[in-house]
Amino acid sequence: MTERPAQPAPLRPAAPRDPVVVVVAGALYDRGRLLAARRSAPVELAGRWELPGGKLEPGESPEEALIRELREELGVEVEPGERIPGEWPLKPGYVLRVWTARLLSGEPRPLEDHDALRWLSRSELDSVDWLDQDRPAVAEAARRLPAV
Ligand code: C5P
Repeated sequence: MTERPAQPAPLRPAAPRDPVVVVVAGALYDRGRLLAARRSAPVELAGRWELPGGKLEPGESPEEALIRELREELGVEVEPGERIPGEWPLKPGYVLRVWTARLLSGEPRPLEDHDALRWLSRSELDSVDWLDQDRPAVAEAARRLPAV
């Protein structure tokens, strides 16, 4: 009796992964300070501070999304720099990724989603009530604060 050659395991389609919504935020630096933005909505986040940004739209690169979000929210033009390594969970299905960014033109104003902005030096970083989910990203961003 001839032995049949071993059959390769049948290919199974890869298990579908849960789609994740990527939120990009900017660590915007100016003269040794980091920009913090106070959310005005939704109600459960209002009054807490974050790195400004928002959801990636279909077909956009993260850098394009960051440029668009900071233009819409703050009225400024920025140049994205490096991605800060790491990815932080937000609400279920959402993750936060952060890029450093350099101000090219404009003075940030709280145009959308925020009601206050502050430029924080290293020693002032703990003086605002950051969103819990932003704290690890802020700590990483603070490590990259350029010396003045
Ligand atoms: O600003 P936008 O509503 O597009 O952000 C999408 C979600 O990402 C918000 O619900 C907010 O909870 C979250 N977010 C965050 N930290 C940031 C930016 C956004 O938790 N720095």
